[in-house]
Amino acid sequence: MAKFNENYLNLKESYLFSEIAKRVNAFIKENPDKKVIRLGIGDVTLPLASEVIKSLHTAVDEMGKAETFRGYGPEQGYDFLREAIKDYYSRNGVTLDLDEIFVSDGAKSDTGNITDLFALDNIVIVPDPVYPVYVDTNTMNGRKIVYLNANAENNFLPMPDENVHADIIYICSPNNPTGAVYSKEQLKVWVDYALKNNSVILFDSAYEYFISDESLPRSIFAIEGAKKCAVEFCSLSKTAGFTGTRCGYTIIPKELVSTASDGTKMSLNKMWNRRQTTKFNGVPYIVQRGAETVFSVEGMKQAKEMINYYKENAKIISETMDKKNVKYFGGVNSPYIWFECPNNMDSWDFFDFMLNKIAVVGTPGAGFGENGKNYFRLTSFNNKENTVEAMKRFETLF
Ligand SMILES: Cc1ncc(COP(=O)(O)O)c(C=O)c1O
Repeated sequence: MAKFNENYLNLKESYLFSEIAKRVNAFIKENPDKKVIRLGIGDVTLPLASEVIKSLHTAVDEMGKAETFRGYGPEQGYDFLREAIKDYYSRNGVTLDLDEIFVSDGAKSDTGNITDLFALDNIVIVPDPVYPVYVDTNTMNGRKIVYLNANAENNFLPMPDENVHADIIYICSPNNPTGAVYSKEQLKVWVDYALKNNSVILFDSAYEYFISDESLPRSIFAIEGAKKCAVEFCSLSKTAGFTGTRCGYTIIPKELVSTASDGTKMSLNKMWNRRQTTKFNGVPYIVQRGAETVFSVEGMKQAKEMINYYKENAKIISETMDKKNVKYFGGVNSPYIWFECPNNMDSWDFFDFMLNKIAVVGTPGAGFGENGKNYFRLTSFNNKENTVEAMKRFETLF
């Protein structure tokens, strides 16, 4: 009998969204006349931009003609897309080489797959609350996880503890679920800590396009020294509505090297290239043409319009929180609004309370870790009409 990977026994049951669906369905059954509004959505709702659709159509037509048909493409992504990403970074002041850019089918796969490159006895630091993928993928490998407290005292932006050693550090900024964003100065402290401890920062910037405050960093590579100690994961899912189309990219600088136990120099960039060429056959040509267009002048403009639509919703939610004197985090450079449940309620109690009283659905913070137990996440991904209506109802809640 083959032995199964017993680390899977250590995974916590992932019941957050199924439990939400169960409770909402029961409510609808009992209250068929009530209109339920969902502000728990972590998915985009606006359709793809017209420029992107045009490129996708053109690419589909190319696939139908012998002269322009494409089969297997480069595992790292087509140069036309990598050039577009390189230009995008250079417009933001970061210089990259083309072979430091790896096109992927999204940030979820890459943040999980990167664990292949690290030894099992590395100590991993993740913030609590956290995007659960970081925890579960390391648990699957049996790595030791140390949690770093994110809380109201540190504005959900925990800083390194000089007395705690970490080999691998996950940072997500703008953060899911809290919406908090690290400043350049704060990220510099993390980079200095990583350089001192020979650790690697795995920086998830899936929400960078929501940053409108120019003083905030959209990339870890805006920080001096980061190329020696950080990997960056990005995604077009939230930037341009690609959640169902699937395209992202990962940046692994060539300066990020380590020394093996026998003294051999090891390059994370080369290892990832070897991993991807072995286990991955690239993102569809058609999708990469659509992604290329996102980085064009018109594509960026249309993507920004979509983001601004969601940000307007976030503003509507934040203003309601202000009116109700609820202290919240995020909501400005992020699609997420994170707040403490009123009257010391725990997050599942508040979920039921809000559903039963005003038929609005959100996400209980408990689903993101211990420190989320008394917190709640609302998102700006519904449409404006529903967001306005939900907030009108919210004003009457307590
Ligand atoms: C922090 C974070 N990283 C990554 C992802 C996944 O992105 P993708 O759709 O590119 O796989 C999400 C999706 O919700 C996310 O919240």
